[in-house]
Amino acid sequence: MADLLQLIQTRRSVRAFTDEPVPREQIEKILNAGRFAPSGKNTQPWRFVVVESAGKKEELAKLAPQAGMIATAPVTLTILLDRDAGYDELKDAQGIGAAIENILLAVHALGLGACWMGRTRDKKIERIVEAKEHEELMALIPIGHPAESSNDASRHPLETITRFI
Ligand SMILES: Cc1cc2nc3c(=O)[nH]c(=O)nc-3n(C[C@H](O)[C@H](O)[C@H](O)COP(=O)(O)O)c2cc1C
Repeated sequence: MADLLQLIQTRRSVRAFTDEPVPREQIEKILNAGRFAPSGKNTQPWRFVVVESAGKKEELAKLAPQAGMIATAPVTLTILLDRDAGYDELKDAQGIGAAIENILLAVHALGLGACWMGRTRDKKIERIVEAKEHEELMALIPIGHPAESSNDASRHPLETITRFI
């Protein structure tokens, strides 16, 4: 497996996928990476819904912008926040962000591609993915074998975003 720092730097959003399926075993590895993220008070407020069925994907793709991404991805992860498990809106969201980044890095480590789609608190999507009453949408993550990759690797130089005091 590639070095972690190398993986962090080479991960890019992938927005188009081949039709090659992603085995359940790989999905479980990816979700396990999410599960081991840090969270405030270790509340682990994330919940995952794995959308694999063609019918559900079609319903999702109709609602989400960039529908093609979800339509072509063999799997779309839905990341939910369980409000009953969390304790602080901002800290819960930070923990969910950490879980999502772990997921994206695990996807990349397995040679797959994914994109963090920032759809949040969307009641229609929550209904499609059968979210419980106390669960809120935090992100959609289509995952598959890359058919193309983004080259938006540009980042602000370290010295413009950092102060040593
Ligand atoms: C909170 C959040 C929301 C995002 N939402 C979208 C989205 O809706 N659609 C999309 O194509 N990319 C989305 N992205 C991906 C960013 O556009 C991408 O990470 C950024 O341009 C840097 O490119 P890279 O991931 O290839 O390094 C989102 C990223 C984050 C962190």
